[in-house]
Amino acid sequence: MKAHQIADKVYWVGAVDWGIRDFHGYATERGSTYNAYLVIDEKVTLIDTVKRPFLNELLTRISSIIDPEKIDYIVSNHSEMDHAGCIREMIEICKPEKTFASPMGIKTLENHFNTDLNLSPLKTGDILELGSKTLSFIETKMLHWPDSMIAYMKEEGILFSQDGFGMHLATRNIFDDDIPEYVLEWEAEKYFANILMPYSNKIITLLDDIAEMNIPINLIANDHGPIWRKHITKIIDLYSKWSKHAYTPKAVVLYDTMWGATATMASYINEGLASQGIEVQTIPMSASHRSDVATEILSASALIVGSPTLNNNIFPSIVDVLTYIKGLKPKNLIGASFGSFGWSGEAIKQLNAHLQSMNVELISDGVKAKYTPDSTDLDKCYQLGQDAGKALLEKCK
Ligand code: FEO
Repeated sequence: MKAHQIADKVYWVGAVDWGIRDFHGYATERGSTYNAYLVIDEKVTLIDTVKRPFLNELLTRISSIIDPEKIDYIVSNHSEMDHAGCIREMIEICKPEKTFASPMGIKTLENHFNTDLNLSPLKTGDILELGSKTLSFIETKMLHWPDSMIAYMKEEGILFSQDGFGMHLATRNIFDDDIPEYVLEWEAEKYFANILMPYSNKIITLLDDIAEMNIPINLIANDHGPIWRKHITKIIDLYSKWSKHAYTPKAVVLYDTMWGATATMASYINEGLASQGIEVQTIPMSASHRSDVATEILSASALIVGSPTLNNNIFPSIVDVLTYIKGLKPKNLIGASFGSFGWSGEAIKQLNAHLQSMNVELISDGVKAKYTPDSTDLDKCYQLGQDAGKALLEKCK
């Protein structure tokens, strides 16, 4: 449990959570880290803390280089409990001269802990002099909480980006250098889709602002996963791409099934889409997690949803995933619905209403099949796939 130096006078002192598999509804198959940073300067400064159960790991890593009581400043860039969960204990243990947060961060932390923590505000443009290093702050409201802010250390070219550019990945690698690119890209994309997608417009503005500032960035020191060093340009380009949601020839066919009929329909829709050269991800919700669906939808422009009718309603797993995806506010999607039924068949109408409430542009009234789809029903499914593929190719022009 040591501190790891990442730049002159700057150390990673965070915690690795190898065991977490569910992060408020997000499946974290590879665990996570809670990154915290310590600057050993005239003013010894801790940037962010860790989730409360990891307080001892944080203290042990800090103690490997300095007595925690020598900390002069604590900066909270983000009030969510995975980064501020032990801030009250850290204030009690370290007795810092000052603890800083954004004005909204002060309100959030005081509401969390129901106490006055005697916090000092940092606003956009404020600069904290640490000695030979400085930290400049930018509030990034709603990226992804109202309190969020980022800090830049110009002397080392480090952007302390809190959740931004993060990923849930437990690793012993402090930097991105030695982690396979497919792992980095999938986990960063999954993080963006599940945490940041609703705020895409704000990310576009922030990226533009950072580009305009023309500041050198040698490290992106985020709050989850490895620090970006080798792939900085790539991850910034990916954030730019993901936040724009341009139309792409990729479709997600999402379904659940009771006795296999809706699954058969899904496979014919898949064939129809593929006949137009569309990349298709067909996802059975009986064996898939909503957070992986969100990741696939981030890079897709068509969402075709299938559900049997169960007790006059949509199948519960499909309601779950649509409710979750709606909250993530995906943009630029066309869509349609399908499903089998026995005697009433309300699911299709309800699915269409769900899709419309998500601003998905419907290309059809949907296809439904009574009990087992016959060849006419399956032709309609194939045709639906073809029509969706053609509509998508038009959008991509
Ligand atoms: Fe990693 Fe928004 O907390």
